Amino acid sequence: MPTADEIRAAVSAAYAGRVRPVLERAESDDVIPLVDVGSCCEPAPAASSCCGEAAPAADDPVITRIAELYRDAAIEDLPSTVTDVAFGCGNPTAIAALEPGQVVLDLGSGGGIDCFLAAKMVGPSGRVYGVDMTPEMVRLARANAEKIGAANVEFRLGEIEHLPIPDESIDVVISNCVINLSPDKAQVFREAFRVLKPGGRLQVSDIVWTRPVPDEVRSDMEKWAGCIAGALLESEYLDHIRAAGFVDVQSVASEYPGGKGIASANVTARKPAPGEAAGCCVCC
Ligand SMILES: C[S@@+](CC[C@H](N)C(=O)[O-])C[C@H]1O[C@@H](n2cnc3c(N)ncnc32)[C@H](O)[C@@H]1O
Repeated sequence: MPTADEIRAAVSAAYAGRVRPVLERAESDDVIPLVDVGSCCEPAPAASSCCGEAAPAADDPVITRIAELYRDAAIEDLPSTVTDVAFGCGNPTAIAALEPGQVVLDLGSGGGIDCFLAAKMVGPSGRVYGVDMTPEMVRLARANAEKIGAANVEFRLGEIEHLPIPDESIDVVISNCVINLSPDKAQVFREAFRVLKPGGRLQVSDIVWTRPVPDEVRSDMEKWAGCIAGALLESEYLDHIRAAGFVDVQSVASEYPGGKGIASANVTARKPAPGEAAGCCVCC
């Protein structure tokens, strides 16, 4: 098995490679109008797709194309240097029900799509932080923020296992198709718990397995970067969240047709409020 550092390096290199042409475009200010772009689950090429070879066929009615994922969000206002690198598998801002004035953190913010949507929802009195370990992604997200004029969004370079964010400073943690890429999911959820204010919420979209992951898939680094090899069984994923201390842990998973047990899950959880009993493994 590759080490945690090897996994992070391979994942970061894969996403740096995917984002470089868009970064060049963003930095040259040559903005191309919004086109019908793929999402993380676009079927080809397998190595550069979030969902790898097991992604659904292009004509599949439930394919998570970007326009469909974000059908209720105002993505038409966003430049193509944001939407062309939207590699998510859900729309966590849609499930987050954000309110004006809230402080939001996006784990693995990529080109910034969910941060920019969250920024509109929390308004000028709120603030959004995006953390990503790939320098090219952070550069692109910062260039996008400048282009959009999103003054209440800040992108920080860092690992989601070691968040560059103070304790109890965040109202809502969101994330879109990222935690499956981490070699230490338990640590990611502990960090999310640490930075959330008491009563704060975790609302993430991610890839999970609905049946055991085949051994040959687990150790395949290309499939790790493609959001397949690192993804957990849905029940294990939720157990890690409860073990970090969260309560009210809920998941709605939709299996990709032909995905051989791969599903996109919308997961919600809450950090207990002061005086409320914590999740199972904190108190006992
Ligand atoms: C599939 S993309 C999703 C990006 C964004 N959330 C979106 O919906 O477009 C995964 C992103 O997570 C970042 N990432 C993966 N593992 C990470 C880790 N351990 N720490 C920080 N960022 C990570 C990658 O650099 C990449 O930008």
